[in-house]
Amino acid sequence: MRTRVLTGITTTGTPHLGNYVGAIRPAVAASLRPEVDAFYFMADYHALIKSDDPARIERSRLEIAATWLAAGLDPDRVTFYRQSDIPEIPELTWFLTCVTAKGLLNRAHAYKAAVDKNTDAGEDADAGVTAGLYMYPVLMAADILAFNAHKVPVGRDQIQHIEMARDIAQRFNHIYAGDYFVLPEVVIEEQVATLPGLDGRKMSKSYDNTIPLFAGGRKHLRDSIMRIVTDSRLPGEPKDPDSSSLFTIFRAFATEAEAGAFHQALLDGIGWGEAKQVLFERIEADVAPMRERYDELMSKPERIEAILREGALKARAIAGPKIAELRDAIGLRSGIAVAAAPAPAAGKAEGRAGKLPRFASFREADGSFRFRLFSAEGEELLLSKSFADPKAAGACQKKLKGPGATAAVLQVQPRALHLELDGEFVGSTPEYGDEAARDGALERLREALDQLSVQE
Ligand code: TRP
Repeated sequence: MRTRVLTGITTTGTPHLGNYVGAIRPAVAASLRPEVDAFYFMADYHALIKSDDPARIERSRLEIAATWLAAGLDPDRVTFYRQSDIPEIPELTWFLTCVTAKGLLNRAHAYKAAVDKNTDAGEDADAGVTAGLYMYPVLMAADILAFNAHKVPVGRDQIQHIEMARDIAQRFNHIYAGDYFVLPEVVIEEQVATLPGLDGRKMSKSYDNTIPLFAGGRKHLRDSIMRIVTDSRLPGEPKDPDSSSLFTIFRAFATEAEAGAFHQALLDGIGWGEAKQVLFERIEADVAPMRERYDELMSKPERIEAILREGALKARAIAGPKIAELRDAIGLRSGIAVAAAPAPAAGKAEGRAGKLPRFASFREADGSFRFRLFSAEGEELLLSKSFADPKAAGACQKKLKGPGATAAVLQVQPRALHLELDGEFVGSTPEYGDEAARDGALERLREALDQLSVQE
């Protein structure tokens, strides 16, 4: 079994060289290892805690998705999606909220820091603190637990959040007496470089000392590198590589041999201006092809959108059945909901009858039972699997009409979509020819399921 590695990418700010070297590049490399089943997602629900500017939220997640794809993330290999495309995550967040001790959240570093700041300023302890900030760790636990991730690579500042996710998972498992959740393990990549910024401190948005990865293009990259602070040694005077930001950054991009040569050049007294040009050229050699892919992607946002939607389908194929299992465990059983639902008002149902999707059952030559689902317009949307008896086929139709259908998952197969309910294959769409046809089939099937459940 492959190790499921999951991590969230905060969708605020513009990616810089420090993000690339410290997070993006190692994550892309990890996703290429055969034993790794990687789940990487844009934490755009988390972004709402930090920003209430819709335009920024929208632009940022697009730029960041394009950045990861440009940096070599292969969406066919990795499950790459947006958190906000997975409704199972907020649903799980609530389930987890109900087993999470409030005291646990009181101890979260980010919340405590806000309280301490307020207290020091003589303000009310919770001034300006949203419930979103307070709940941040529960949402993050849901991100991880919805997929039963084994390993979660994060920065040091996130360790406490992973510990909380473990705590919450354990508590849920204990209360509902089952192994519902894998306890995730934190992974801190020790060997990845932390880059210094323009002023020599750690490169970070909060210090305003970053070198952008793609923003502003080649010229901006060069201009930024030329602004890196150095000492005042003149050309010809030997420079100390080990105390130089230029060398630290260079090494993060270079082979051993290249780094050795740069090291020697500094000792030999290369001028800072020339050294910066060498550094720029080395970085640009790696960045230029990625920037080209980035610009290409940003000029076709619909391409990014399609990739993310497909990622969401793959992700929901896992989170959907998980939520169905949990609903069952905690007593929110869809079967009961169906039985208790009032019969639809006859007039209303009749009035719309001609415009609704419908099922048609039939019997195969081998005696098994199947059905087709047709759209309101009469297009075939789904052919069911074979059922041994007609009752089972009927029960399956009933489920597709009921609230259980919200847990239905559409799996993308090479030629057709497969519909799954409670983790079981139910049927497939007619074969499609290309991606556009597939997206159409997907949309019409979803729409039909929605219409049916509204009718119920
Ligand atoms: N909070 C993480 C950060 O700021 C991002 C994140 C959100 C995340 N959900 C996650 C990371 C789940 C790992 C797993 O970096």
